[in-house]
Amino acid sequence: MFKTTFWKSIFLLFFQTIKIFSADKITFSEHISPIIYKHCAICHKKNGIGPFLLTSYESVIKRGNSIKLATGIGYMPPFYADTKYSHLSDVNQLTENEILLIKNWVDSGMPRGKNPSPIFEYKLKVDKPDLVINFSQMNLKGDSKERFFNIKATYELPKEKLVCKCEFEPGNPKLVHHANVFLYTFTQNTKHNVPPYFIESDIFDSNFKIEDYLKLKNADGTPAISSHATIVDFFPGMGSTSYPKGINKSFTMAAKGAFFANSVHYGATSKNQVDKSSLKIWFCKDKPKRKVFGHAFGSPTHKITPSFPILANKTATLSTWVDFKKDISLLSIQPHAHLLATKIKMYAVTPQNIMIPILKLNNWNFLWQRVYKLKNPLFIPAFSKIYLEGEFDNTSKNPLNPNFPPKNVKESILTNDEMLQGWIDFMGYEKGDEKIDLEQK
Ligand code: HEC
Repeated sequence: MFKTTFWKSIFLLFFQTIKIFSADKITFSEHISPIIYKHCAICHKKNGIGPFLLTSYESVIKRGNSIKLATGIGYMPPFYADTKYSHLSDVNQLTENEILLIKNWVDSGMPRGKNPSPIFEYKLKVDKPDLVINFSQMNLKGDSKERFFNIKATYELPKEKLVCKCEFEPGNPKLVHHANVFLYTFTQNTKHNVPPYFIESDIFDSNFKIEDYLKLKNADGTPAISSHATIVDFFPGMGSTSYPKGINKSFTMAAKGAFFANSVHYGATSKNQVDKSSLKIWFCKDKPKRKVFGHAFGSPTHKITPSFPILANKTATLSTWVDFKKDISLLSIQPHAHLLATKIKMYAVTPQNIMIPILKLNNWNFLWQRVYKLKNPLFIPAFSKIYLEGEFDNTSKNPLNPNFPPKNVKESILTNDEMLQGWIDFMGYEKGDEKIDLEQK
């Protein structure tokens, strides 16, 4: 034990020394541009969601110090899952070595190196959708306030269609933080294209029924059929979750329906802006081989223990669980909570009491909610309990606590109340699923 630690220290000392001596040899062209273009430019590009460009030497040196800071504290890139806990797809994190390289490069005056230095190459994918559905235009006031809108877009088709791929396209990518879209199906004879088409989240209380307000109902007052789980999720810089060919979250678009984007999160803006987001839809060419199911659990449908409220000036660990009667292959997870949450964990416990780690977020960040896709489908045996656990800090030490002084916080979809919710994608288990690489397109 002593020996390995000793040699590790000698090795590290040697390693750090090399870094310090070679700091002035670190150049943008050779060392820094590959890191920035791989990990940052996907968002910090023209029409990307990052607030500025990081696509050339000139654009990067303008931000040297804030880049050093944001990468040093692990704030950027915004991928907050603990990759030692579970194997995930599309991991976007810097290694210790890359963080140190950036720091040393900035500290040594950001030398360019080879001139001209590489610039970020835009890769444009052209895959024309079969159908585009437009959401109403949102007019966003320039009062520097975060906003949440619930928006519906109705449609009508000659006959029902099976959809194999669906993407949410933000109209104003700098402003749209995330969106989760559900589908409502109307009975054939109902008049469905009726206003209102949107409502801001903050103006209703928890007794308010959004289906009533937005008329997500048949003309006779019976409820339209909801997809329950999301049919598409949007997370900035990532697009929609997709699975390898033949594995589809396919769904049927009935002849009459409405897409409902729940709590589309708009970032704060200091000038008036508009957003006109849309859905791109691809109908299935072949029958999908494997069907992906979405499922939501936790708030407000499942029991949370201990129950809400979260008491003022206290921290609390809440948990909820779900189980399935059949073996499943878990594909992706999206935990959801609000401002008091600090940590989130998801794991399964099999009937034989074996723990299967799924996801761990050591720093819950309300602004960066996203879908975490597993690297390979994860086998969860029938009757395992899938637990979702959240740590909440309702003290004044939590800088995001919306209440000063803190007060008891109840369960509801409003941002200043709390939720503990998990959305998962899965398919029925088949032998060999563990070997599928979910990063494959
Ligand atoms: C998934 C998209 C995305 C990726 C990837 C990303 N950024 Fe950002 N970045 C943003 C957005 C959006 C903001 C503004 C909102 C915020 O600060 O959270 C931001 C803010 C920043 C800021 C300002 C932070 C502050 O408030 O002072 C810096 C600096 C930054 N990014 C650098 C980087 C660097 C360097 C990388 C790569 C190592 C990177 N970003 C990767 C989207 C991204």
